[in-house]
Formats: sequence, structure tokens, C-alpha cells
Amino acid sequence: MNKANAKDRIKKLKDLINDYRYHYHVLNESIMSEEAADSLKHELSQLESDYPEFITPDSPTQRVAGAVLPGFTAIEHSRRMLSLNDVFTIEEMRAWENRIRKLEPGSSLEFFTDIKMDGLACALVYEDGILRRGVTRGDGFVGEDVTANIRTMESIPLSLRNVMKYSMFLSGYTEVRGEIVMYKKDFARLNEERGRAGLPLFANPRNTAAGTIRQLDPSLVANRPLHFRAYDLLRQDISEVPTYEYAYKALSALGFSTNFMATVFKGIVEVMGFANEWEEKRQTLEFNTDGLVVKVNDRLLYERLGVAGKAPRGAVAYKYAAEQATTKVKDIFISIGRTGTATPVAVLDPVLIAGSTVQMATLHNESEVKKKDIRIGDSVIVHKAGDIIPEVVEPLTKLRTGKEKVFRMPKNCPECGTVLIKQKKADVAWRCPNTACPSRAWKLIEHFASKEALDIDGLGEKNVIALLDAGLITDAADIYKLTPEQLLGLERFAEISANKLVNSIQAKKSPSLARFLYGLGIRHIGVQTAIDLASHFRTIEAISTANIDQLASIDGIGEIVAEAVVEYFAETRHQKLLQKFKDLGVWPKKVRHTGGKFKRMNFVLTGTLSTMSREEAAEKIRTRGGTFQSSVGRDTSYLVVGDNPGGSKIAKASKLNTPIIEEDEFLAMLD
Ligand code: IVH
Repeated sequence: MNKANAKDRIKKLKDLINDYRYHYHVLNESIMSEEAADSLKHELSQLESDYPEFITPDSPTQRVAGAVLPGFTAIEHSRRMLSLNDVFTIEEMRAWENRIRKLEPGSSLEFFTDIKMDGLACALVYEDGILRRGVTRGDGFVGEDVTANIRTMESIPLSLRNVMKYSMFLSGYTEVRGEIVMYKKDFARLNEERGRAGLPLFANPRNTAAGTIRQLDPSLVANRPLHFRAYDLLRQDISEVPTYEYAYKALSALGFSTNFMATVFKGIVEVMGFANEWEEKRQTLEFNTDGLVVKVNDRLLYERLGVAGKAPRGAVAYKYAAEQATTKVKDIFISIGRTGTATPVAVLDPVLIAGSTVQMATLHNESEVKKKDIRIGDSVIVHKAGDIIPEVVEPLTKLRTGKEKVFRMPKNCPECGTVLIKQKKADVAWRCPNTACPSRAWKLIEHFASKEALDIDGLGEKNVIALLDAGLITDAADIYKLTPEQLLGLERFAEISANKLVNSIQAKKSPSLARFLYGLGIRHIGVQTAIDLASHFRTIEAISTANIDQLASIDGIGEIVAEAVVEYFAETRHQKLLQKFKDLGVWPKKVRHTGGKFKRMNFVLTGTLSTMSREEAAEKIRTRGGTFQSSVGRDTSYLVVGDNPGGSKIAKASKLNTPIIEEDEFLAMLD
């Protein structure tokens, strides 16, 4: 980026971030996720550090947090209220630990770990055990006196409980710091009420809590459900509270609520174990959290480590990976799928989202691109959750420079030049009708070999492409002609791997009808539809000669599927392919009926079974008329538990009273 572009980009970023802030804080509405806004702020501060001459005092990066509102008295903190540096990975956690070890060699380290609550920090001052003041964090040095407001909160003791062991905290100056939070359920209820009353909705629990505490009228606060959770206990002589572990125990005894899961760990690996344990489980907490606070347990050591910038060296915030980020669309290309569907795909500037680097995102179809108005060169918000395929949420039109290019769906297939068609007027997807299109071949073959189809080990994307490139195969039937000698001629194979692949192909010459049918890659034929067709028609000959009415008369098979099946078998190319399979001795087994004993029954499997793979279990369930589900729900009939089962499925099943059975019971049911 040159200087002029940088200047322009900085200006646009500032405007958009300010816009976001205005909507968020003034209008109580959200024009994008906080994660996306953070991503923009990050880009802005990077650009500003490359071009410091463009930093202006009104830049969002120059904000001094927490100025005192008019109407509130400013109160100086006894000790500065700091913020925390964020870390995102175990490597960064280790680097933090190493810095501490360097500064304090030889000290034995323990890590006090708690959930980081998403609320606002507050300091409570007790004199001789009596609550005197409540002060917001403000800019860290000076905060706002919100005593009248926090006195309405039930979770804040007006006087400290007198417990013998901790009675020293009842004399002299004692300060308790913690987080004021609004629970998710209370926030939802509040917004529901506001919605019904026609009032504007609040953006999130944290803002609502902060806004409430900074009201001048305490009766308003009394009517809003807020909770205080303590995380620190301060005395003039810090050695009176030797560790954070001690602080939490004392805080409970003195009458404060603290997080029950807070724990001391001996090493970073254990801390990360805790982090992983809570990544999913945090959804069940009453309040929002986006990570952990990890502190050196020893208070004296913590103090000795001191402060760097605005954060203590002795603590970090470990943040869970965000699910949204902003990046740029470098290009849009067309990917031709297994059944010829032409899907626009965005090529992105690589960006880290939810723990992995995202470089491409599906745009689904032409009308989706049009509707969202995504252009080449646009800055966009990208969303990715866990193993979900990344998706472009929306373009940030305010960041446009005018050089963005509108995407136009090509008229022809980029691979074979065939004119793209829409099967029906109402279809959203364009398709390449050329079944011999080279871009389809590898996907079809890979699909044929995939786990739920023929389940041929070692025939993934890379090997299929290598075999096609070498001219050894042109379609799925050709794989049965492969010899170890041919494979040895390719760089990817050595003697053992070549023999192994040929053997695993030859072992799959009489697949089940359902697997074979699914493996052909007929449009709209998923695993379950293939099973339904197979169990009704029982042979491939019967299916290939059935007419639309016969097909559509089957339970679960509609007009669209029926048409796709008839169309598939009507094509000469496909008839030739089937003949080729037959000539090579590859033919699906005739279906023997097992009586549909699992009809209307739904099974979930957790852990590994000793007698069969997950796919085999699924097939056995389906061929008996049952459904194989991926997660436990109200309609689940049985949870089958194998070795090393996952805890969450069992917990869910117990909660819903779903029968839980072991492998031998399951085997007995199959017979
Ligand atoms: S310990 C240096 N423990 O996170 C302050 N803080 O970014 C460390 N927070 O303003 C304090 N939950 O208000 C600590 N369990 C927890 C916390 C927590 C939320 C807030 C705190 C502080 C911010 C630091």
C-alpha cells in the first residue's frame, strides 16, 4: 500500500469504527460484531504504526479510557487499576511464562486461573469492615464514585462478615475488587420487556451493566439485576494476602461471591487443559466470557514483576479464538462441484479465525453475491465457527475506494468452456452440464472412494489428482484396473503404499447397493436417499429402469430426486460407465431385507466400537430402517457408548432420559 492509499484507508477505517461506536453506545444497536470491529481496530493501529504521520488525536486508537462523567465525583484509586495483555495460543502463554522466569529466575511458579468475566471492574472500599465507597475503574488512576448505585446491589455486603480466621480484614482499610456483571438470562428478559414496551433494545449484557452503574438515579440501578463477583483483596500491606488462592478463600468468608472454578495450576499445560475444558462449557455460565485470567499466584512475586504499559507483567488474559474477522476479497473464482454446480468462491487475504487461517470462503451462488453486493477488492467480514465452512457475512461498503469490481457470473464453465445452464428457471445455481468436464472428474472419483461411499482407504484428493494427471484413470471404474507397477511409476508411491492402495481398491468390488448408488454422485442423492432407494428397489437394474412415478411414490423421495435419478440413468455416458463397472466385475450386492426393525428409531454413537467402524454402524442402523444422528436430541431413541466416549453426549442423554446402551446390547439389537 502506498502513502496516499494508506491515508485514505486510515480515514475510512476511523470513520467506520466511529460509526460502529456511535451505533453501539448511543443508539444501542450493533452494525457489526464486536469481533469484526476489533479486527478493524487492529488493522488501523497497524497502519498507524507504519504511517505515524497520519495519527490524529480523534483516532479510536488514541482513546483514553474512562473519563469521569459529569455528575459523578472523581475518586483516586488506592492502587492503579490495570488492564491485561491478551494471549491467544499456548506458545504465547509459554513466552509469557519464560519472560517471568527470566525476570525472577529460580522462583517456583504457580498459576492462579479464573474465568474472565465480561462486565465492568469495580473497587469497593471497606473501612473497619464497613462499606464506604464503590468506584469504577475509570482511566485506571481515577474512577467515578458510584457508591449510591452499588449499595443497591444485594451481592455487595454492606459490612464484611466476621469470621475469626479473617478478622484482621475488619480493621483498617480493606479493598475488594471485582467485576459487575449482568446475567445472560436477565439481559434477555430485560430486552424482551423493552421490546414489548416499544423501547430500543440493549446491545449486550456488559454495556447494559456499565450503563446501569453509571446512572445518576440509584432507584434505576435497584431495578436492574446486577451481580458483583470478587477477584482481588487488597490491604495496605500486601503481604497480608500472600496468594490469590488465599484471597479467594478470604473473599468468600468475608461475604463475597467468587467464581467456583478458579484453580491453582503448576504449569501452563494444566492451564491450557482448563482453558480447553471451559471453551465449550462456558456457554453454561450465567455471564458472558471470552477467555481466562491467568495470574502468578504468589502476590509478592506478582508485585515484584511490576507493570509494563497498562498491564501487570504477572498476569495475562487468555482469549478464546474469535469467530469473526475482517479481511479483503482478492478475487472471486468459480468452482465446479461433483454434480456440476458452479459455485462462486472468494479468495481472501489470509486471516486467522477460530484458530485456523482462512484463505477462501464460499459465496454460495450468484444471487447471494448480488444480494450481499460482494465485490472483488472489498473489505469483508468473514465468519467461521469451529469446523463450519467459512462464510462471507457482508462487505464493508464504507471502506470502498471505487476500484472494487462487480462480480459477473461467467457464461461458460471455466474448466471446459461449456455454456453454464440453469436446470430450471427458479434454480439459484448455475451448472456445467458437461459430465465429462475435467473439473468434475477428480471430485467424482474422490467422492466414489469417500468413507460414506465405497470407503477406499488411500484414495483422497491428492492421489486421485495424481492418477488423473498421469493418465492412469479417467473415471471411477478405471481405478479397478490399476496395478502396483503402474503406481510405482508415480512419485507419490513406493512398493508398500502401491500394493496397499491396489488391495484396498480390489477389496471393494461388491459394495452394498446404497454405498454404490451414493458413490455414483447423482445429484440430490445423499446417504439416506441412497439407502431408501436401495431398500425399496433392491438392485441397480431396478433403480436404473424405474420411472419418475415409481421413484416418487417412495417415502422420502420427492419429484426433484426422482427426476435426477431418471436423468442420470438416461445419459449414455452413465450407461457406459455402469457397463464398464460390470465388465470389471464391480457390481453392488442385491439388498436382502432385514425387516426394518429400527423403523422410526434414531441412534447416536459416542466413542469407538470394537467390532465395527462408525460408518459401518451407521450403515447397519440405516439398512434396518433407523436413522443415524450426529448429536443427542429429544428424538434420539438410543445413545450407543463405545470406548473413550465423549462426556457431552452422555450428559445430554442423561438429561433427556435417553436410554444409554453399550456395544454388546447394540450388537444384540442388530441380530
Ligand atoms: S484479575 C489487572 N480476574 O478483566 C487486572 N480480572 O483486562 C486483573 N476481569 O479490568 C484483575 N474477570 O475487570 C481478574 N476473574 C477475573 C476477571 C477480571 C474479569 C476484568 C477486570 C479487568 C480486566 C482486565
